[in-house]
Amino acid sequence: MQTVLRLLAGLLVLRVTVAVVLGYHDYFPPNFESDFLQGRADYFWGGYQWAFYPHIVSGPVSLILGTILIGDRFRKRFPQWHRYLGRIQVACVLLVVTPSGLGMAWHAETGAIAGAGFGLLAIVTGVCVTCGWRSAVQRRFAEHRRWMWRTYVLLCSAVVVRMIGGLATVTDFDAPWLYPLAAWASWLVPLLAFELNRLGNPFIRAIRGSISCSS
Ligand code: HEM
Repeated sequence: MQTVLRLLAGLLVLRVTVAVVLGYHDYFPPNFESDFLQGRADYFWGGYQWAFYPHIVSGPVSLILGTILIGDRFRKRFPQWHRYLGRIQVACVLLVVTPSGLGMAWHAETGAIAGAGFGLLAIVTGVCVTCGWRSAVQRRFAEHRRWMWRTYVLLCSAVVVRMIGGLATVTDFDAPWLYPLAAWASWLVPLLAFELNRLGNPFIRAIRGSISCSS
């Protein structure tokens, strides 16, 4: 069951990544009438392009690499490849995805609340991947896996935020607070779920305990 769920989650990540990349025809050359670039012509040719282009290349690469690297089977069958791709992933996330995401956060759609959400996401992702890298070098592998799972969960916020956007479109739901909320919830909720699951769901256990006590 767990294998099936993991496979489905991997396919979802892949599906969203492909959909994102298929939209790149609006970025080469930049189409300032397109959804994302609308209203950005004023600052695009300044510093923004230097964050934007590295980000839209490194983002999908890190998501695909993360999906491959997180798999136990791949690591066990191809340990050398795991190490090799892992180094590329650390460099990609730490040197490109994180700083470019932070730079783009200054101009986030809808303003400061969304910008702060993406900015903090960038910092937390940078911290997690650095800790994951350090623990691998120091051969503390259980710790390494935990940090790299956190990094992957944070990278998947790119998928979650687009799923929230997609859901809003199909249900014709449009509220000014949705995007700022999504900028925070897309990573805080999955990260919290990961930590709760890792700690063996103490809340769920507490709820179960109280139910069995009262029955
Ligand atoms: C976890 C680290 C990440 C941070 C902090 C981050 C941050 C951002 C920010 C701030 C924006 C602009 C949003 C706005 O102006 O409202 C953006 C856009 C974008 N991000 Fe990321 N991002 C991250 C990961 C990813 C990943 C893993 C992908 C892979 C799909 C990705 C792909 C993109 C793309 C393609 C855009 C341009 C908009 C679009 O075409 O949908 N990002 N990101």
